[in-house]
Amino acid sequence: MFRRKALSDLLANPPADEDLHGSHPGEHGLARHLTVRDLTALGIAAVIGAGIFSTIGNASHDGGPAVSLLFVFTAIACAFSALCYAQFAATIPVSGSAYTYAYASFGELAAWIIGWALIMEYAVGNIVVAISWSDYFTGLLDGVGVHLPIWLTMGMQSAHKHYNAVLALMQAGKPLSEASAAQLEGYKAWAAAPELPGGLRLVLDLPAGLITLAITALVYVGIKESKNASNLLVVLKLAVVAVVILVGAFYVQPENWSPFAPNGIGGVLKGVSAVFFAYIGFDAISTTAEECKNPQRDLPRSMIYALVICTVLYVIITLVLTGMVNYKELAVGDPLAYVFNKVGVTWLGKIVAVSAVLAMASVLLVFQIGQPRIWMTMSRDGLLPKVFARVHPKYHTPSFSTIVTGFFVGVPAMLLNMDLVIDLTSIGTLFAFALVCGGILVIDPHGKSEARFKVPYLNGKFLVPLLLLIVGGLVFVYNRDNVNEFFRLVSFSEGYEGFRHQIPMLVFLIACGWVAAVSFTKNLSLLPVLGLLTNLYLMTQLGISNWLLFGAWLIIGLAIYFNYGFKHSKLNRPAGAR
Ligand code: ALA
Repeated sequence: MFRRKALSDLLANPPADEDLHGSHPGEHGLARHLTVRDLTALGIAAVIGAGIFSTIGNASHDGGPAVSLLFVFTAIACAFSALCYAQFAATIPVSGSAYTYAYASFGELAAWIIGWALIMEYAVGNIVVAISWSDYFTGLLDGVGVHLPIWLTMGMQSAHKHYNAVLALMQAGKPLSEASAAQLEGYKAWAAAPELPGGLRLVLDLPAGLITLAITALVYVGIKESKNASNLLVVLKLAVVAVVILVGAFYVQPENWSPFAPNGIGGVLKGVSAVFFAYIGFDAISTTAEECKNPQRDLPRSMIYALVICTVLYVIITLVLTGMVNYKELAVGDPLAYVFNKVGVTWLGKIVAVSAVLAMASVLLVFQIGQPRIWMTMSRDGLLPKVFARVHPKYHTPSFSTIVTGFFVGVPAMLLNMDLVIDLTSIGTLFAFALVCGGILVIDPHGKSEARFKVPYLNGKFLVPLLLLIVGGLVFVYNRDNVNEFFRLVSFSEGYEGFRHQIPMLVFLIACGWVAAVSFTKNLSLLPVLGLLTNLYLMTQLGISNWLLFGAWLIIGLAIYFNYGFKHSKLNRPAGAR
């Protein structure tokens, strides 16, 4: 369970012939096409998407202009993680990303857990993006007079929920005007849909399914085609974001920035899941290590370039958005298009809607590339059946895994409700990031690595405890009410129900104490420690119900590992037979 993969094994690549279908040498290797520019573009392609075009709306509504600071804080957490990812990518330049890194640092069980968590990031994340894509796309179709039947434009789960809500209103004798627009749409869709056995209705988000199918087909056909498509989409996306910022700046009314944090820190922190979701993706480029021309040099650079570019754009966009209209108006699914329509610049509203569709298609593309490569790597290690490692003889892509990913994303995208999948994506990814930072502390606690890129070493002996004391002191002084409330609830003054919501924070505080003690005794490197703690902190903000769901996901993963991976792992075989 704790067996680790030796670096020499990880770098022995491509894998042995018997694992793969096809027997010609070179037939099963992936093709090396990607340069630093392609990789940075892939990073941006993965990052700028549903987060900034859609979920930022609700976050700005809850937190006001101060959400821009949450973007900065989250970027800092991501930057620590990016540095750690970059060191791993320079040390172990093979497909598999955080999964492979965990295999080298913590051992097989942790590697499996992280691979399992990454499914949340890539595949479940793509479900969110596909649903969001469909919302913008159907809006665009409506704009040009093409109206799909309403029961083909949303997920069954949302429609059923909204239908029941409206029904309850009607039964209570209340007017329909009390229902939200989304509820009314859901009601109409459910009522109009063909009936299925078991009282269900055929309500499907067809565009979400079709775009997943189209992107999966592109990814299946080849990395080179995918790269060209992604480079093109990124240029378009950045151009539109730049126009939004430049034109939007003329419509900013500084009085909208006051009050800056109308709902206090609590309001700002409600946006953690949405804001973090907006950053997810810069790490996805590390899954293409075997397709890079010079992975050790280019992967670290491009990850950091992508993150810096996106952070600058996000902070400016948030300020422009909250400066153009009052934050209270921003609880909409298409905030960037909305603000321009609101100030009367409707031509730009339309351009934004078109670019959102393109932007989200490129996010889908990168994640659809990433997920099969993780499965392929896990299969090469024997943790998944061999067929997951099959490489297409002509297209040189992981063929079977790509098709499975298409189903895994496309089918739920047609059925599920978006809020659930956003939170699951964020919690799974934060967990993976925390483990990657922890992994650097395990393989290189004192920054002594010979890798071509390493996290700069600052001794955390005194700095970690000191920083924690300073932050703790500030929270105590400026957020006294919440601190008192926390202590009241953890002392069971409202029984288990009150206590259980504090469990994430309690876990975080215990982790802080432990990490401070180990930093002091072992002179741990400061930056990975800060990465670990900031990611854990962001996880605490996602609430106990998401922790429980994520826990259930991990338990399913463990059951599969102990029934399959543990027995079939290559590390379970004698060295000569791997
Ligand atoms: N960061 C990606 C997006 O916002 C996942 O769509």
